[in-house]
Amino acid sequence: MSILETDGLTKHFGGVTAVDDVDLSVEEGEITSLIGPNGAGKTTLFNMLAGALEPSTGVITFRGEDVTGLAPEAIARKGIAKSFQITNVFGGISVLENVRVAVQARHRGGWNVHQHADSKAEYTEEAEDILSFVGLSEERDRPANVLSHGDKRSLEIGLALAIDPDLLLLDEPAAGMSQIEIESMLDLIEELAGEYTIMLVEHNMDIVMNISDHVVVLHNGAVIASGPPSSVQADESVQEAYLGGMA
Ligand SMILES: Nc1ncnc2c1ncn2[C@@H]1O[C@H](COP(=O)(O)OP(=O)(O)OP(=O)(O)O)[C@@H](O)[C@H]1O
Ligand SMILES: [Mg+2]
Repeated sequence: MSILETDGLTKHFGGVTAVDDVDLSVEEGEITSLIGPNGAGKTTLFNMLAGALEPSTGVITFRGEDVTGLAPEAIARKGIAKSFQITNVFGGISVLENVRVAVQARHRGGWNVHQHADSKAEYTEEAEDILSFVGLSEERDRPANVLSHGDKRSLEIGLALAIDPDLLLLDEPAAGMSQIEIESMLDLIEELAGEYTIMLVEHNMDIVMNISDHVVVLHNGAVIASGPPSSVQADESVQEAYLGGMA
């Protein structure tokens, strides 16, 4: 069953068509990877799905409901989470506190400052569970800004999980990582896949081909191929797009 669909999704920036008439269908429980050369439109597409950018035209349907043009907070409440950028991590406060604040914002709607001690304990427990899931239990009391790059990316994913999503959008989670960090990120994504539907933007083809159920290839904003990893890898137009992208 598909959890997310786009119909004719398009984004223009002035004269540039960054995303061009994209029809997507994401199956619940699967890992769908979105690949394509630099500038293909992957991040722009993610930003529209997450409500950070309004589409020029087209429709986004999530769990059968039209969510096109909703604000990021509303999209998050529907169950779509995009891994936050590092700037969303509060550097000076602890790893645990970062996640606890995000959990609390979900429960409290982000505006109610009144808080009972027992609910605070609940939020802390939920935050601890999330930290354990993303492998950061041992870092819980350290200030977020002293974490390694790889651990910061895991914390960003933890913050996304704090909204209790159904669909998790990960934009290049392994970018800038060492080989060891890449391997633990791969393990984490595979673990996440047991609980969440995942859309992944990733340039590392070993990762994409290893863990994806479905691969969608964007080129100049348009979908040029879509299917299981092996068929996409063998697709001539995909190979040409990548060669053209490197020229
Ligand atoms: N805010 C913006 N204003 C104007 N043009 C933009 C904006 N954001 C993206 N673009 C343009 O839209 C196109 C798609 O960019 P996008 O960042 O979505 O590509 P991408 O596939 O994520 O690339 P990369 O692999 O390098 O991250 C590019 O031509 C880019 O220059
Ligand atoms: Mg991008």
